Amino acid sequence: MLTMWMARAVVMLNLAHMRENMLRGRNVMDITGKTALVTGANRGLGRHLAQQLRDRGAKVYAGARNPQSVDLEGVTPIALDITDPTSVATAADAVGDVSILINNAGISTGTSLLTGDLANIRLEFDTSFFGTLSVIRAFAPQLGAHEGSAVLNILSGLSWISFPQAGAYCAAKSAEWSLTNALRLELAPQGTRVSALHVGYMDTDLVRRIEAPKADPADIARIALDGIEADSYEIIADEPARAVLARLSGGVAALYPQLRALPGFLPGQGAK
Ligand SMILES: NC(=O)c1ccc[n+]([C@@H]2O[C@H](COP(=O)([O-])OP(=O)(O)OC[C@H]3O[C@@H](n4cnc5c(N)ncnc54)[C@H](OP(=O)(O)O)[C@@H]3O)[C@@H](O)[C@H]2O)c1
Repeated sequence: MLTMWMARAVVMLNLAHMRENMLRGRNVMDITGKTALVTGANRGLGRHLAQQLRDRGAKVYAGARNPQSVDLEGVTPIALDITDPTSVATAADAVGDVSILINNAGISTGTSLLTGDLANIRLEFDTSFFGTLSVIRAFAPQLGAHEGSAVLNILSGLSWISFPQAGAYCAAKSAEWSLTNALRLELAPQGTRVSALHVGYMDTDLVRRIEAPKADPADIARIALDGIEADSYEIIADEPARAVLARLSGGVAALYPQLRALPGFLPGQGAK
């Protein structure tokens, strides 16, 4: 009798705990014991993500074009070029049991959409949009085989705002944001939560030529994993990304105030 009462009390406590977590929106997905794959895990943010996933108790596949360049202990390097469909299919077959997929691999060619090399513009889309898409398509069946699974796409504040000198990057990240929204809806029925991380500049090779305040990628990786554990759909990792998001509702005039200085921009008419 006492045992039954205690068992019932434990169930009630667990339910209360789960409800509290759900209400607080955190710790719904526990990383411990899960199998995770990070693309572009040999350096930059991806390396921090792989390291911190490992430290939180996940089994980690560190995807890299050159797996020999993965220098982390306790993770399994795996060859993965996200722009190569054969490489993506081979990696998905080799792994088989991923329930957390982080699409981190990315490039920035600093290309103008108007005057830049079209090959660079295509490469940006092949990487951020088609590469991410092909990885998600290839891994969707194994993600769906788990009761709960997660995809995190590493986006940017530049998914929401454009700079002409990096127009190709912004357009590709914007397309990746749209892809994230569409696949979130398509993968929800199988229990796969698709989220996005938006961040400003981080101190990595990608932006080494840019002089600006940069976040520590280790901090951003921690925020990203906390976001996965909290089941957040959209993880706004820093103040620059938060500021761009706030300006979105102000339309063109809020996002691109420089237009005010140009002939043809009509003050008072350009609020949206
Ligand atoms: N740094 C920033 O300020 C910033 C801001 C916002 C968003 N982001 C995003 O954060 C993510 C990580 O960037 P990062 O800053 O860590 O840059 P990073 O240090 O330059 O690292 C980029 C990673 O992506 C990999 N990669 C590139 N193309 C690939 C492909 N076709 N297949 C597989 N891997 C590929 C690279 O591998 P290799 O070593 O083989 O080149 C490298 O591991 C990217 O999606 C980027 O757009 C960065």
